[in-house]
Amino acid sequence: MKKKLLALGLAATMAASLAGCGGNKTAETTTAATEAVATTEAASETSAEAADTEAESTEAAPELLTVTQGKLTVATSPDFAPYEFYAIGEDGTPALAGFDMALAQYIADDLGLELEVVTVDFDGVLSELQTKSVDLGMAGLSPDPKREGIMDFSDLYYIGGQSLVTVKANADTYNSFEAINKPEVSVGAQIGSIQMDLATANSPDADIVPLPKVTDIIAELLSGKMDAAYIETDVAKSYQKNYPELEIVLDVPYDQEGSAIGVCKDNEGLLAAVNASIGKALEDGSMEKFIAEANELASGEKYEGLLDESGQVQQ
Ligand code: ARG
Repeated sequence: MKKKLLALGLAATMAASLAGCGGNKTAETTTAATEAVATTEAASETSAEAADTEAESTEAAPELLTVTQGKLTVATSPDFAPYEFYAIGEDGTPALAGFDMALAQYIADDLGLELEVVTVDFDGVLSELQTKSVDLGMAGLSPDPKREGIMDFSDLYYIGGQSLVTVKANADTYNSFEAINKPEVSVGAQIGSIQMDLATANSPDADIVPLPKVTDIIAELLSGKMDAAYIETDVAKSYQKNYPELEIVLDVPYDQEGSAIGVCKDNEGLLAAVNASIGKALEDGSMEKFIAEANELASGEKYEGLLDESGQVQQ
């Protein structure tokens, strides 16, 4: 698993991994975060009730614990515009972007924590959560019930859909589940994703090709190595802006539509705080703004890989 730590020393991560999510309790993080939650709750109550809430929260409110004191450590997989990707700036440097990243920053600010982002391939996001090495996984995660043993899910913050994608030249050939369900047809899906499940459910006889990154899948489709692929609809639409040869041929039904944040399991205080922040971001127009900005940036130049240890584009 390739892994890049942004603004986070390896030693710190290892210490955090050992401590486990929420195992590294600290007075400062806890107080700041509890106050943030208590303040929001109090605002919607009468002043008498608010006084009670505050009194209770100093004594009995659940403490907000994170893997590293004062930080919110978030795993993501930046191969997924407009959710998360590297936008190439005017100076040619790639910078982490996307509405998941903007929401991550919003939540960290809201909770009074410093944001640390860990970038890995998508299956790595799942395992970082499973090993409790990070607090959150924000990667356009579908709240798949099969994942409930290794993470908790926040409320939904975005609704998307699923598609079958090919290239324009093949759009008349690979235009139905029947047409792609043949051993000679190669069908891609990202490793660890629900798109893999969709591939095996809808095209079990096809030559299913699991790849670590959605950007690898797009490259294979464009080069003609792969015939079709299961991809999140808004991601397919976003890469279509850079590669108009891509064609969405089918809407693929899926019953857990929408994205949630994966929260390190059994950290109820953090889950509640994250849900409160999501509620605010949806309510105050921030989420809408993050989505518009991400779509705008994603139509520009994107870097399609992870960065190396010194933050450079990998060749
Ligand atoms: N929604 C799908 C899932 O949860 C795919 C997510 C992939 N995310 C990414 N950043 N590549 O399985």
